[in-house]
Amino acid sequence: MTPDILPVDDDLRLRAFAGDADVDLAWPWYRDAETVALVDGPGNPTYARDRVAAMYQALAAQGEVYMIERRTPDDAWETVGDVTLAPDTLPIVLAPGRRGQGIGRRVVLRLVDRARVLGWDQLGVREIVPGNDASHRLFTGLGFLPRVPAPPAYVLPLAPLGSRPRS
Ligand SMILES: CC(C)(COP(=O)(O)OP(=O)(O)OC[C@H]1O[C@@H](n2cnc3c(N)ncnc32)[C@H](O)[C@@H]1OP(=O)(O)O)[C@@H](O)C(=O)NCCC(=O)NCCS
Repeated sequence: MTPDILPVDDDLRLRAFAGDADVDLAWPWYRDAETVALVDGPGNPTYARDRVAAMYQALAAQGEVYMIERRTPDDAWETVGDVTLAPDTLPIVLAPGRRGQGIGRRVVLRLVDRARVLGWDQLGVREIVPGNDASHRLFTGLGFLPRVPAPPAYVLPLAPLGSRPRS
């Protein structure tokens, strides 16, 4: 079951997707042509609100859907992205203006940890648009291995908890 809140660190947490209100929060990112080009490839159409809702519904059938929240200076939480944890897909989208600040790396690391706790033996990333350097670097930097032919584009084998050699 998806936890209501999955803490990442002092300033970041994952909150379970909560339906319509989150669709409204996320829709602006999916109306942004640059974001859609990174996620679906250049030239693809931006999303209508219904498509965002349908996307989350489909993701919820596959795994744990979270909104990424960052602590604000006045100690509230603002939603800055979404991410889904499923065995063979790990889609993550940060709002424009929130990228390149290490958020993606911290979030994916946290979810790798959760996948281990859930007892999964690997994590896959289904598809990444070829020119999406941030996304390729995010996953390769965390040890995900490229797969040919894709999909999945990347796979991270997960050692069971407690099986790693002690130094
Ligand atoms: C892809 C995404 C989730 C990465 O999260 P992020 O917080 O921006 O990335 P981070 O700051 O944690 O950096 C991760 C790596 O990408 C690199 N990176 C970040 N932005 C980059 C950019 N614009 N160009 C090239 N590399 C970039 C970082 O240097 C880091 O690499 P390193 O570990 O080798 O130094 C985020 O950029 C995003 O939401 N992009 C738009 C949607 C998208 O492409 N989603 C993925 C679809 S599969």
